Amino acid sequence: MKTLLLPASDPGTPGIAAELIRAGKLVALPTETVYGLGADGLNEAAVAEIFRVKGRPQDNPLILHVTDMAQAERYCHSIPPAAYELAARFWPGPLTMVLPARDCVPRRTTAGLDTVAIRCPETAVTRQIISLAGVPIAAPSANLSGKPSCTTAGHVLHDHDGRIPAVVDGGPCRVGVESTIVDLTEGTPRLLRPGGVAPEALEAALGRLQVDRAVLGAIDGDAVVKAPGMKYRHYAPQGKVVIVLGSRQAAAKYIHARFGPGDRVLCFQEELPLYRDCLPLAYGREAEPETLSAGLFSALRELDSPQVKRIFARCPSWEGIGYAVANRLSKAAGFVTVDAEAEI
Ligand code: TXA
Ligand code: MG
Repeated sequence: MKTLLLPASDPGTPGIAAELIRAGKLVALPTETVYGLGADGLNEAAVAEIFRVKGRPQDNPLILHVTDMAQAERYCHSIPPAAYELAARFWPGPLTMVLPARDCVPRRTTAGLDTVAIRCPETAVTRQIISLAGVPIAAPSANLSGKPSCTTAGHVLHDHDGRIPAVVDGGPCRVGVESTIVDLTEGTPRLLRPGGVAPEALEAALGRLQVDRAVLGAIDGDAVVKAPGMKYRHYAPQGKVVIVLGSRQAAAKYIHARFGPGDRVLCFQEELPLYRDCLPLAYGREAEPETLSAGLFSALRELDSPQVKRIFARCPSWEGIGYAVANRLSKAAGFVTVDAEAEI
């Protein structure tokens, strides 16, 4: 199959993409977070094709993308007032809400759960495609299962050229990490995955927020978790990722003492001069954490090669957008961290 590359700015693109979605085909779509691998979320065969192409475990549910809360109401019931407040504050934008699913949502989409994850993306062309298609679009991150997410159309082609009918090219994703997922189906709202909406902002809007344990630590493969996706190894390049905590100087000393063939350093731009002999790759500026989220997945993809055996990574503090960056890096590292201050 030839994969069409449809520029978002081309006036014909929304119509072509919507027609493919209506026909049950897969179209990769840009969002402000990461690219999604989209299909008609109400069409079981189309949804099955997403799982097949992505190589996704069957027990990992998909997010339905909608244009607004009115459309969300068609697929969820018992929607609490908090969901309306969050939608008013953060939609369109990088927030996904888990709500009780109506029966019209195929259990293939929700992986058998009676809840469904819903979000309204910020990217205008994608909302236009959802609206023209007239169906909610189910879309996981477009990467092959287990790999770093796609933040450019080029990343999508790298994973899927010749395997899907079309990619809409909306340029690089503004946020660069996936949406924040909050579960609103139980008493206290629960953060299932940190993302583009900072947890502090979410907590301020809700008044209270529990953090799911899968966010902060490794989860046993057999464990029952609320967001099934959180238990899989994720975002991981082929080499082993080791997060090196501590001050700039301590981390540099620790890494220099161990750096060898097959090693790379993934650091902040401010730190490049410290690693001149260690093939450093900067993913953004520590002083501007939104550049770290925007650059993280591209950098992890660049380091995803059989030649790279080990990656010493520098991680921002768990606050603001840095919280999601630290979570993704920690997952890529299997939550392996070393404290340079303690180990020197
Ligand atoms: O930013 C994003 O959210 C991107 C773009 C494309 O919208 N999508 C995305 O989808 O990250 P995916 O499939 O890679 O991650 C969705 C996560 C998974 O961890 C999944 O387990 C969880 O959402 N999820 C989906 N439905 C759920 C549900 N009903 N209950 C709990 N977790 C759910
Ligand atoms: Mg994903």
